[in-house]
Amino acid sequence: MKLYPAYLDRAAQEALLEQIRAIVEEAPLFTPCMPRSGKAFSVRMSNCGPLGWVSDIGGYRYQPYHPATQRPWPPIPPLLLQFWQDLSGCDAEPEACLINYYGPDAKMGLHVDSDEEDFSAPIFSLSLGDDARFRLGGTTRKDPTNSFKLSSGDILLLDGKDRKAYHGIDRIYPGTSNLLKAPGRINLTMRRVKPIKG
Ligand code: SIN
Ligand code: FE2
Repeated sequence: MKLYPAYLDRAAQEALLEQIRAIVEEAPLFTPCMPRSGKAFSVRMSNCGPLGWVSDIGGYRYQPYHPATQRPWPPIPPLLLQFWQDLSGCDAEPEACLINYYGPDAKMGLHVDSDEEDFSAPIFSLSLGDDARFRLGGTTRKDPTNSFKLSSGDILLLDGKDRKAYHGIDRIYPGTSNLLKAPGRINLTMRRVKPIKG
């Protein structure tokens, strides 16, 4: 993995947040649920890009439209695509940017990002708002894990052996940032979904 602490300064964070607000107006946050059990996630989600990640009773998948509005996802902001170009080491563009919204009590269990068809590109993750405790393990559930804090403006790349590593969010530290209007955190995760040609 590669961690770029405070890659975005406050002005860049505010500019990006404005763009994410506009996206979420067009493609409202929805509450995903676990396949089969139907148990609701504590994180709310939306997406931008040609494809978006969704989870419902039918399973996990990428699809080109919002599950409630049925409309195509808004495009990924050029600023984000620029960061991907500068840091990912991947010439192809990401097709999906998942927007995770964590309220003060939200968390995300350990999982592997494995619904993509291409694993050569890294998972690119950018944090806005309150600090979070990120947990990173190995490629099996039994492997030992480490945890560290992610703060507003940090960028994390899961690449190489960590591309398929278990990871999750233990907790949010409410009130550690004043970027958002209320306690909480936004995480933007860009992924390459389709195989890269050539
Ligand atoms: C994710 O794994 O989709 C989100 C990780 C994070 O919120 O930092
Ligand atoms: Fe993930």
